[in-house]
Amino acid sequence: MVLDYKEYEQTARQMVAEGCVLLKNEADTLPLSGKQKVAVFGRIQRHYYKSGTGSGGMVNVHKVVGILDALLEERNLKVDKKLLKVYDQWEKKNPFNEGIGWANEPWSQEEMPITDELAAECSERNDAAVIIIGRTAGEDKDNVNERGAFRLSELEIDLINKVTKYFSKTILLYNTGSIMDMQEECIEKCQAILYCWQGGMIGGYGVADILTGRVNPSGRLTDTIARHIEDYPSTGSFGDLVRNYYKEDIYVGYRYFETVAKEKVLYPFGYGLSYTEFKQEIVSFKEVKNKLTVTVEVTNLGERAGKEVVQVYVEAPQGALGKPARVLAGFEKTKLLKPGKSQKIIIKVSPESYASYDDMGASGHRYCYVLERGQYHVYAGRNVREAACAGVFEISETQVLEQLSGCMAPILPYKRMRPVIKQGEAPRMREEAVPTEEETEQKRRDENLPEEIAYTGDLGYQLRDVADGRITMDEFVAQFTDDDLSCIIRGEGMGSPKVTPGTAAAYGGVSEHLDQMGIPCGCCSDGPSGMRIDCGMKAFSLPNGTLIACSYNLQLVEKLFTLLGKEMVSNKIDNILGPGMNIHRNPLNGRNFEYFSEDPYLTGKMAAAQLRGLHSVGVTGTIKHFAGNNQEAKRLKVDSVISERALREIYLKGFEMAVREGQADSVMTTYGQLNGTWTAGRYELNTEILRKEWGFDGIVMTDWWAKISCQGKPKEANQTNFAQMIRAQNDLYMVCPKADTNKTGDNTLDELEAGSLTRGELQRSAMNICRQLMHMPAYFRKIEKPLEVEILNRPVTEDDFDMDSIVYYDVKSRVEIPLDALDTSKGSNFVFALAVEHVGIYDMKIGYHSELLELAQIPVTIFTQSVPVGVVTFNGTNGEHRELNRRVFVSNKYVIIRMHFAQSGVNFDKLSFSLSEKIDEARIQEAVETKKYDIRFT
Ligand code: BGC
Repeated sequence: MVLDYKEYEQTARQMVAEGCVLLKNEADTLPLSGKQKVAVFGRIQRHYYKSGTGSGGMVNVHKVVGILDALLEERNLKVDKKLLKVYDQWEKKNPFNEGIGWANEPWSQEEMPITDELAAECSERNDAAVIIIGRTAGEDKDNVNERGAFRLSELEIDLINKVTKYFSKTILLYNTGSIMDMQEECIEKCQAILYCWQGGMIGGYGVADILTGRVNPSGRLTDTIARHIEDYPSTGSFGDLVRNYYKEDIYVGYRYFETVAKEKVLYPFGYGLSYTEFKQEIVSFKEVKNKLTVTVEVTNLGERAGKEVVQVYVEAPQGALGKPARVLAGFEKTKLLKPGKSQKIIIKVSPESYASYDDMGASGHRYCYVLERGQYHVYAGRNVREAACAGVFEISETQVLEQLSGCMAPILPYKRMRPVIKQGEAPRMREEAVPTEEETEQKRRDENLPEEIAYTGDLGYQLRDVADGRITMDEFVAQFTDDDLSCIIRGEGMGSPKVTPGTAAAYGGVSEHLDQMGIPCGCCSDGPSGMRIDCGMKAFSLPNGTLIACSYNLQLVEKLFTLLGKEMVSNKIDNILGPGMNIHRNPLNGRNFEYFSEDPYLTGKMAAAQLRGLHSVGVTGTIKHFAGNNQEAKRLKVDSVISERALREIYLKGFEMAVREGQADSVMTTYGQLNGTWTAGRYELNTEILRKEWGFDGIVMTDWWAKISCQGKPKEANQTNFAQMIRAQNDLYMVCPKADTNKTGDNTLDELEAGSLTRGELQRSAMNICRQLMHMPAYFRKIEKPLEVEILNRPVTEDDFDMDSIVYYDVKSRVEIPLDALDTSKGSNFVFALAVEHVGIYDMKIGYHSELLELAQIPVTIFTQSVPVGVVTFNGTNGEHRELNRRVFVSNKYVIIRMHFAQSGVNFDKLSFSLSEKIDEARIQEAVETKKYDIRFT
């Protein structure tokens, strides 16, 4: 296969352009066609947010093209350099505040104050003003409803007021991960408003394509923008640190607003403008056995070519269960339509996408997906508000689509919303008690134990014998000792030397014996928008999840992820930890940037398209976080209390689609609790629903260092109860520092001996893992028939290096790193890794000499993972041999170290590390704060 970076960049750029959502465009302010002079305001113009923060934002890139960078490259636009200089000068005294790392970055940067004079002067020199507002948020850090976070800061409001006072054309751009508060009056004063989201490393180009009109906007909102944050029905409970009752139930986003609170909406779900005008005409509607076909003819009535999105919504009768006024059940984007041209769009809707789940028996069919009797209205149009009735059909008797068994219901009682819709009365919500259940998981597990396969001992069979059909998987796994079984469920990481350096985990052939049996080590890396390779390897950073979903373009999503898949193959990465597909339950969730939408159908479609792309070139993705991971605050512990109906219709739906339609083969459970039990130990979630109901036959992994608990014993949650994890059929614990030893003290073998965990259960997980690995590129690497990728046009940067050549040195107490023929010329890199027995303080000694004079400076930057941790500046020695000593703190088992030589002239004679002080792993944090050291390797 061929990976052409030009095509990659072009596809990502198109994705950014198609994902930008134009909310307002008075008097054709946009596009900025012809020659125009523009003044760019907002200090974030120099610091484009390519993504949010945390694991999903750590792709190392060789460049970032922000909006300003792209505008500066435009031939027809003249960016006001004088104004730019004002910003640059201010910036010198007010540098960008990076924060202090993981979950500590500020949500926004202080804005530069501007004067009336400056705004007035700029307005005289320019035709239009562009104001860029930037926000970030991310893992472990929700957004907050405060100024400078979800809301504009005082200085931003002042900036917008002043600019709009003098300019007749002000274009407001949002460089954010997901939606922001838009209630301030000043926003109304802008002539054009565009959500640009976070577009990855070349995001600025896609935005410039829209601003200049090279691409006509066709992005549509995937969330409702309400007037106030309090208007979202989840706001009251969102962020609760102990227990979060999902009282709004299925009425998330537009399902709530369109049913009972239309007036609270500023921009409806699915909304987005174009530079041209489209007509959507319903051509036909057909209903056969609840399967719907809606045909819509889209015509471009305007003067510019463009794309339009047709959206189909269903309104089911209120019936005994209560229903949202609209449910998205289908959508499609047109091709590029030239002025005057039309296209017929045919949308097929299956009953599963508009059925309801009866968790209380009100329809007479408990634990069933039903179509209640009554009238169904089907709408088609350009957003949830502007959709005309395409057809009406009647179901005379309530129908059962699927009888299930009732799973995951809450244990604790609470009340949920349900609508009251009466003729002549304003629609409103009332409360109803949520059906609760007894705890049933253990009983279910006991009644469904897999049969044990009799142990045969090692017969010399290899995994290849299964793949080639010579033996069955049962026969293969029959060879596993108890020890093999306890190893294979341990994922190893982060930064395991068994796979691509600096990635999240290795899984499968993690011990010597498993490796000898021909089981490959699969390699996982974050995810979701490009590969995170912490050793500093550069990768392509893709647009964020919200942006991708706003494109509503499934073919384009699939194409982009095919390209990512090829990049993964070429970096020996099998499994990307994404798509992230939790629901945008509330706009303040820190990780909304990674996720797609408030709507589960759209979420499922996007995930399935990404998986199709990845699978088409042999790699895969891990759908995460399964399920109900909708806030970051106290995510390791918080209990999400969700009715079974809301789980089925909202929070599990997207995952179900990713499994059934996208053939997902890898799932990550969450950190927290779902209805009282940590998800990694939930049998009903990981076995009953995922596997029995949906037919999933892949692997389930925990989130990194997650806790596990057993139903009924929440107080006992810990990181070592692997036995419960396996009983639930969460196959892999992510991650253990060394998978071939029980370093972290998991209870697998103890519980096996005690009989509370069976060999059959362990064998079942071992088979899941082996089966999944058999179609990963890792397998083909193992049998020495690796998938090949020919790379074209990959940009080369001076800090690129060959990852295959990284050697890991085991350090008991001292190691000397061989330096044979070390190239220390300008621009070269020396990369190696340590695998230490003990974390602690080490003495790093560098023996060196230089032929240069004493005053020569030769800086060498030291990076650990991808982060620069220190610069050692050598001086010339007139040829004399000297030694340099540094105290370094190694706080992780595996560290990858890169030394970058920015100047030629120093020669290394010796390099060694010796342990000077062991540190107890439990006291690392304390040691970080109290110990004296020069450089810290994490
Ligand atoms: C995140 C996951 C991520 C994992 C590995 C966790 O903190 O929640 O989404 O894939 O780390 O980096």
